[in-house]
Amino acid sequence: MNRLQDRYQDHICIEPQPANSGRGNTARLRRWGVLHLALVACVLLFEIRALFLHFVGRWRAKRYRNQQRLRLQFGCGDNAKPGWVNIDLSPKADLQLDLRKSLPFADGSCECTYSEHFFEHLDYPDDALFFLRENFRVLAPGGLLTFGVPDAGSALEGYARATKGAPVTPFPGHPSWVRTRMDQINFLFRQNYICQIHQHRYAYDLETLELILADVGFSQIHQREFDPLLDSESRLNGTLYVSARKS
Ligand SMILES: C[S@@+](CC[C@H](N)C(=O)[O-])C[C@H]1O[C@@H](n2cnc3c(N)ncnc32)[C@H](O)[C@@H]1O
Repeated sequence: MNRLQDRYQDHICIEPQPANSGRGNTARLRRWGVLHLALVACVLLFEIRALFLHFVGRWRAKRYRNQQRLRLQFGCGDNAKPGWVNIDLSPKADLQLDLRKSLPFADGSCECTYSEHFFEHLDYPDDALFFLRENFRVLAPGGLLTFGVPDAGSALEGYARATKGAPVTPFPGHPSWVRTRMDQINFLFRQNYICQIHQHRYAYDLETLELILADVGFSQIHQREFDPLLDSESRLNGTLYVSARKS
């Protein structure tokens, strides 16, 4: 034991504990407890609000009950599109719905469903696959599903190829603390929203998307080019766009 202590003495630092350190630890624990409770309260409030908005949104969606060839944009945020039913939990949407729940549209009533930087906010696999199944249900035969997600595969390839210390191209919308490629990877995988409510829940590459879209029943699945008439300029870099059809 002494030999071990001698060998690792540089690494072992046993400081004498002040007599009142127990009180310091209790205060620290109490602080953590309060923070933890605040976090749980935040999530709870978000869930209650989402439930309420979804309930009202379902009722408002009755106006689309007899419509056909709808075009739905999910997780629109500030980017509502004219001619589309723009859906989000945000007040800027035409319809406020919780997209983890079933869609209040009739089977086969849509010609196109679209989203940009939304799908990665759903828990994988449960909420993500349920959402894709709902897309499949509401699309008419031949209908198009197309969406863009952060391109995690390319980001990781870029990381592996990059020379250490080489300058990093900042992505639009990334916070100022994202300075290295590893910061970019961390931001892409998690984001850092308050209370973890709008965190990224999963990271995707083309192989994964192709597989799950085929599992749900989609065909003609492929990566598509950025479309300036449909997609946001700010998402041009670092987004993987896919499209698929309900045959
Ligand atoms: C990163 S923003 C993308 C906004 C916009 N599409 C864009 O590209 O700038 C993700 C959006 O998804 C919405 N969102 C996340 N989870 C949601 C849910 N369960 N139901 C409805 N909207 C949700 C958020 O409110 C937010 O507006």
